[in-house]
Amino acid sequence: MQKSNQAGKNSDPVTIKPFPVEICILAVQFYPLQKTVVTIFFLFLAFITLSYLLGSCRKEQKTNGLQLLQQEVPAGFPSPAYTFHDNPLTQEGFELGRKLFYDNRLSIDGSISCASCHQQIAGFGTFEHDRSHGVFDSHTLRNASVLFNLAWNKAFHWDGEFGKLQDAVAQPINGHIEMGETFQGVIAKLERDDEYRKAFKNVFGSPFIRPEYILKALSQFTGYLVSANSKYDKVKRGEAGFTTQELNGYNIYKASCATCHPEPLFTDYSYRNIGLPVDNFLDDFGRMRITGKKEDSLKFKVPTLRNCNISSNYMHDGRFNTLQQCINHYRNGVQQSATLDPLLANGITLTNAEINDLFQFLKTLTDSTFLRDTRFQHPQ
Ligand code: HEC
Ligand code: HEC
Repeated sequence: MQKSNQAGKNSDPVTIKPFPVEICILAVQFYPLQKTVVTIFFLFLAFITLSYLLGSCRKEQKTNGLQLLQQEVPAGFPSPAYTFHDNPLTQEGFELGRKLFYDNRLSIDGSISCASCHQQIAGFGTFEHDRSHGVFDSHTLRNASVLFNLAWNKAFHWDGEFGKLQDAVAQPINGHIEMGETFQGVIAKLERDDEYRKAFKNVFGSPFIRPEYILKALSQFTGYLVSANSKYDKVKRGEAGFTTQELNGYNIYKASCATCHPEPLFTDYSYRNIGLPVDNFLDDFGRMRITGKKEDSLKFKVPTLRNCNISSNYMHDGRFNTLQQCINHYRNGVQQSATLDPLLANGITLTNAEINDLFQFLKTLTDSTFLRDTRFQHPQ
């Protein structure tokens, strides 16, 4: 190594020969060849660039040049259970879903839209109603679920009847109590509307409107609704602080409520019997209706507590109008039965002062940004 280094350094100027003339002549002779090589190289480069560009054009065509929408996963949330793998989320698909959500042509008599029962001011539940009104003055069996953070849901409806969001959004269209319409009927109405025909073609690339596309668009809209900007979230992100009362309430929540309503989604998605007396008129035994198992009798899906201050009424049948009534139930309304959750065997003991603090905490779960978000409002 050293030797060659030295040799390099001390190369004797005498040994350097002028550039041989023969080589120059050869170079000139070979110039056309070099030129060809260079030309081929550039042609090759141009070919690569062109095919890359064409490739991305093809990809664009595949999504119809649609604008992909990023699924929102708030910091601290677990990975969503549903990631739109079978229904790519796009701005245009979401907008189409929004239009459908607010359109009462989805119901048989043109009187009811999804938004009739799922109102933004109530976290997309029915504002201050026990059960909701469907077509022909009917009443739903249950209190309308709030619609947000649905991508984290493991199953839908109070009894977990549906495993997939797309099935849950299909049910009300055909449900004789909700909208009472057929897909054939809905499609016939939508096909008469140029704007819809164009929008469906743009999003799904087909000149026909199909039930599947309606459900996919509705799933994009409802599955995209995320609520994670309440005061509670701001405190978690270090952007705000709890008052003393809220902090006390938070600790009471952690001690008494968090097992079933755990952070950050405020539900563990399990089915539980919290000892509500059965309404003899509704005769609703919850999860047992789906599994047929006695041990599931009177169990209902744990609802989220996010936005609960504005999502009255409460419980699967909306029997309570106030949070006070909900808490009183845990304090002194719990009925014993074979399937009662063991956590509630003795109810939950709370003093009046503790309840006040708990309220203050529950209020910090209201996400007014979400409730007023113009992206989710009736499209103009
Ligand atoms: C007449 C009132 C009514 C209409 C109209 C209605 N819903 Fe609902 N929705 C409900 C009720 C009530 C529930 C709870 C049902 C249950 O648990 O048995 C519910 C539940 C849901 C759920 C499940 C949420 C969860 O967390 O389990 C989704 C999703 C949903 N609705 C979407 C829609 C869409 C989309 C439309 C329009 C195509 C619609 N709903 C129309 C009343 C309605
Ligand atoms: C053993 C599990 C469990 C515990 C503990 C528990 N909950 Fe619940 N909670 C549920 C279930 C299940 C429901 C739905 C019951 C139904 O509708 O039949 C519910 C419903 C609610 C509702 C109604 C929400 C709505 O949208 O309808 C509120 C509010 C509520 N709980 C607050 C609390 C508070 C506050 C605590 C603590 C003091 C608490 N829960 C403790 C399981 C529990």
